[in-house]
Amino acid sequence: MAGRVRVAVLISGRGSNMTALVEAARDPDYPAEIALVLANVPDAAGLRTAAAAGIPTVAIDHHPFGRDREAHERAIDAALAEAGIGLVCLAGYMRILTPWLTTRWQGRMLNIHPSLLPAFPGLHTHERALAAGVRLHGCTVHLVTEVMDQGPILGQAAIAVRADETAGALAERVLAQEHVLYPAALARHLGRAALPWSDRSLIVV
Ligand code: GRF
Repeated sequence: MAGRVRVAVLISGRGSNMTALVEAARDPDYPAEIALVLANVPDAAGLRTAAAAGIPTVAIDHHPFGRDREAHERAIDAALAEAGIGLVCLAGYMRILTPWLTTRWQGRMLNIHPSLLPAFPGLHTHERALAAGVRLHGCTVHLVTEVMDQGPILGQAAIAVRADETAGALAERVLAQEHVLYPAALARHLGRAALPWSDRSLIVV
């Protein structure tokens, strides 16, 4: 497809959502191409996965910047500009962003979060969902604003929590949903496709 949006995926770790996006973008009709994978952790496993898939990678370690988060973000922003990036997908990127970067990329930066926002922003979402006794849990793709995990919701996938399920088992099942949701929500955000599930209500007792 001509004029595919050049997307950078920002990661800090294993990068399984990044891989899901890379795989979706192998389809020439997918509206985005993954043009860069950037990590703040130089030995992030996802960098090796991306490089093996032929995707350009860059590591910009936050440590040399000390407490100057904005200086780190300026370096990231420069790398994004150099690669001609039009949209950023955060995928397990574990740094809190300052308004400097979020404002610059407003409307062009997505994140995936492992809960049905606005429930359970922040960390340890699966443990907290189990402790709260929710019957539905899942994941959310949203636009990034300056408030963490609070931007406009672009898509969600929900699953029923199983009786006596462990946090690890729940995390694994939610992650499988993330891998479907993120490529679908990105494509839809770019105006090219509908989410692949129906609008029938899901009732769990
Ligand atoms: C995912 O659960 C994502 O929702 C959260 O961090 C995790 C990253 O996993 N933001 P991976 O690196 O994509 O495998």
